[in-house]
Amino acid sequence: NLNSLQESLLRMKNIVVVGSLNQDISISVRRLPVEGETVLARAVRKGIGGKGANQAIAASRLGGEVSMIGFVGNDSAGNEMLEAVKGGGVDCSGIGISDRERTGKAYITVDDAGRNTIVVDSGANSCVTPEFLETLLHDRIDANTIVLMQMEIPRESLLYGIEYAKKRNAFVILNPAPAAKLPREVYSGIDILTPNETELAILSSAAGKDIAAMSTDLVKNGTACVVVTLGAEGAGIILNGTGVRRVQAPSVNAVDTTGAGDCFNGALAAALAQGYRLDDAVLFAVRAASFSVSSFGTITSYPDESQMEMTFG
Ligand code: ADP
Ligand code: NA
Repeated sequence: NLNSLQESLLRMKNIVVVGSLNQDISISVRRLPVEGETVLARAVRKGIGGKGANQAIAASRLGGEVSMIGFVGNDSAGNEMLEAVKGGGVDCSGIGISDRERTGKAYITVDDAGRNTIVVDSGANSCVTPEFLETLLHDRIDANTIVLMQMEIPRESLLYGIEYAKKRNAFVILNPAPAAKLPREVYSGIDILTPNETELAILSSAAGKDIAAMSTDLVKNGTACVVVTLGAEGAGIILNGTGVRRVQAPSVNAVDTTGAGDCFNGALAAALAQGYRLDDAVLFAVRAASFSVSSFGTITSYPDESQMEMTFG
């Protein structure tokens, strides 16, 4: 329930992100190719990405004390990733460098209307094994830690991380993206699950598209709270038997929603680690993510603390 959730949150101080680091290769096209079709790129840009890296940087910029666990390759993309994550104020001592696997890459095509397709080549992210996690988690996680995870690392490592964090009484936030069904017993190790609407529908076994029904199905599995992001509509908070508490997004001119969900998750963790109550933390995250969609770019559009202060008071 909300009281016990809030009580455990009061202890939380630091954030450990266990997740992916990918170089984004963004290809702009007039329109997306259909099956079997070839189209020409207008421009190709490289950038910092991976849900893990994005969320770690977002949390750190917003005042979180963040350490990241992940893997890059021993190549120029890997160096650029490390520089960027370090530059964002994140402790990178838990990021391994592989001599065998190349840095992960996300091939993103974006058309004139802002529609996109994404193909991810996991590369060195596959080196995040349970064995790799074991010592790193041991040294970084205790009962004051928020562990923030996504689903771009090997599945057995995700499950291992959740179980380990639970044993240490840490607080677990799982952003279930890209979504795939999870074993039922995993849910009791998750304190806050943060799907978007599409991901919620994939995870839930409730019939229909009702947010309350789909979320309640997951809360019944043992997750304390579902925070579903709703794009321009903001977010909804679902606890056991509460229905959906809506948190409205400010109305902004959305020009680029890439990485908005990552900004939301990083901001949520940062706010909770700084002692915000759940509702206030979700409002903070909704605002931070809305700020990020109102300018182009992913991490370059994430707000820092002073921008949040100036924009929202
Ligand atoms: P994802 O990017 O993972 O699909 P959402 O689309 O739900 O996630 O967006 C995450 C958050 O980004 C929302 O909760 C909201 O705060 C912000 N956001 C996204 N789109 C808009 C928009 N058009 N206007 C304002 N805020 C937005
Ligand atoms: Na943006």
